[in-house]
Amino acid sequence: MASGILDGLHATIAFDLNQMTVRTILKMGDPRLLRVARTVTAFDTPELHQLHADLIDTMQAANGAGLAAPQIGVDWAVVVFGSDAPNPRYPDAPVVPRTVLINPVITPMGDEEQLDWEGCLSVPGLRGMVPRWQSVRYTGQGLRGEAIERTVSGFHARVVQHECDHLWGKLYPMRMRDFTQFGFTEVLFPGISAAAQE
Ligand code: NI
Repeated sequence: MASGILDGLHATIAFDLNQMTVRTILKMGDPRLLRVARTVTAFDTPELHQLHADLIDTMQAANGAGLAAPQIGVDWAVVVFGSDAPNPRYPDAPVVPRTVLINPVITPMGDEEQLDWEGCLSVPGLRGMVPRWQSVRYTGQGLRGEAIERTVSGFHARVVQHECDHLWGKLYPMRMRDFTQFGFTEVLFPGISAAAQE
């Protein structure tokens, strides 16, 4: 009997270690995507590490370029982005280092804007042309409260602006100015629609 209990225990532990914590991604229309996220004040906590793991697992399962806590219904100012490898949804984009950014502040560097296509896991199946700052400085904190400060441009800057927008309740269509450049991914980009899991 004791052996049976141990076997069951081992099975449980093995299951937990291998368990993916892929969370449901909220879609546009859900009012939780329109909130201003709360500032994180406690670092290096089990809750924060669990949130980070859930965000990473969910982002990777969806081939996302990034994911913000509000997209899985968590009202904290936490985003993850980057992959350290090319992203199948954006195969031609430069590689962005994998980052978890907490309580971010974004400051534009100069007033130059850049227009480019964006998608969002909370707006599945669609792409739109969105203006963003070409270069930004972003500051914030890591999981243990350590300071993060980077000056970036191009795709990296776009990803950061997109993800942090989720923390102020903004989805990319709310940033668009020209709705003639908004449509379904499978129509706009038939070549990559097969790889995109939106
Ligand atoms: Ni998004």
